[in-house]
Amino acid sequence: MRFLDQTKLPAREEIVETSDYRIIAEAIKRLAIRGAPLIGIAAAYGVALAAFHCAEQNAKRINDCLEKVIATLAGTRPTAVNLFWALERQRAVVSRVGADSLPILRQSLVDEAIAIHREDAEMCEAIGKHGSEILPHAATILTHCNAGALATGGIGTALGVIRMAWEMKKLKHVYVDETRPLLQGSRLTAWELQQLDIPYTLLPDNAAAFLMQRGLVSAVVVGADRVAHNGDVANKVGTYGLAIAARHHRIPFYVAAPVSTIDFAITRGSEIPIEQRRSEELTEFNGVSVAPPGVEVYSPAFDVTPHDLITAMITNASVVWNPNAESMAVLKSKLAQASTGR
Ligand code: MRU
Repeated sequence: MRFLDQTKLPAREEIVETSDYRIIAEAIKRLAIRGAPLIGIAAAYGVALAAFHCAEQNAKRINDCLEKVIATLAGTRPTAVNLFWALERQRAVVSRVGADSLPILRQSLVDEAIAIHREDAEMCEAIGKHGSEILPHAATILTHCNAGALATGGIGTALGVIRMAWEMKKLKHVYVDETRPLLQGSRLTAWELQQLDIPYTLLPDNAAAFLMQRGLVSAVVVGADRVAHNGDVANKVGTYGLAIAARHHRIPFYVAAPVSTIDFAITRGSEIPIEQRRSEELTEFNGVSVAPPGVEVYSPAFDVTPHDLITAMITNASVVWNPNAESMAVLKSKLAQASTGR
């Protein structure tokens, strides 16, 4: 597997090549591989790679070996549900195909990882199409974190919408939150927009409300790490504050996410596990201390935006206006019907 180490961007485009699933697990943990859909895709490839290293002789031992691999990958980051969704798909392959023939199992796991990757690219396209259709003309969009090609298997979710709106000549400008403390906005989203030649401006996170007050934002579009059944959304910390500011200024607030990011098993956002980050990410800057020694730190990687602050959820299946338990249940039954072919 080859992946771009996102911690090195924008200074260096460093490709890591590995056949060791532990390198992938570690890359997810340190955010070299990041963004909800990409984490799921990488984990699926990780399970497939591990199957080539399981040298165990009997089916039970192979199953145990892969269960250990799945547990390691599942322990990397807690919030993005795509990780658990993709691992569950690989677990289902193991139980469906069985481990009597290792070559067949290996090929089936590779095929499933490729399918997850390809489906994600297709979902990004559909999200881009749905989202760009509902944006106003000459849109000025504010986005947070990175929900682009770097975070997915395709053109991105929030950035997929932005990219298609640009191609449709509906987009005027993008405002990019720097996204403290790990700077996914300035390091990654700005890098992607620059490559796409889309006009953008970088701003400190705490300038976003002022930008809205000045009338410079016509819509906010962000991605998601996990969506609860009632439409509450966990996304990069700072998203909730943007949603409150957008509501105050009567600006539409859109969440773009594939259906693989929806966790229908979770009733409301308060049940979503939120990752806490290491204190050094706040107390140090480039290895230099920027806070008194021993300071107590609170650093959640994500926050939860209540569904009533969300104008619409832009999914690959459809746009869910005013997401709530009822409208999300309609989406759920639509998905169930599609999967049974009815
Ligand atoms: O901590 P990160 O960089 O993995 O957080 C990423 C986000 O919050 C994204 O907005 C989300 O995963 C959607 S990516 C299409």
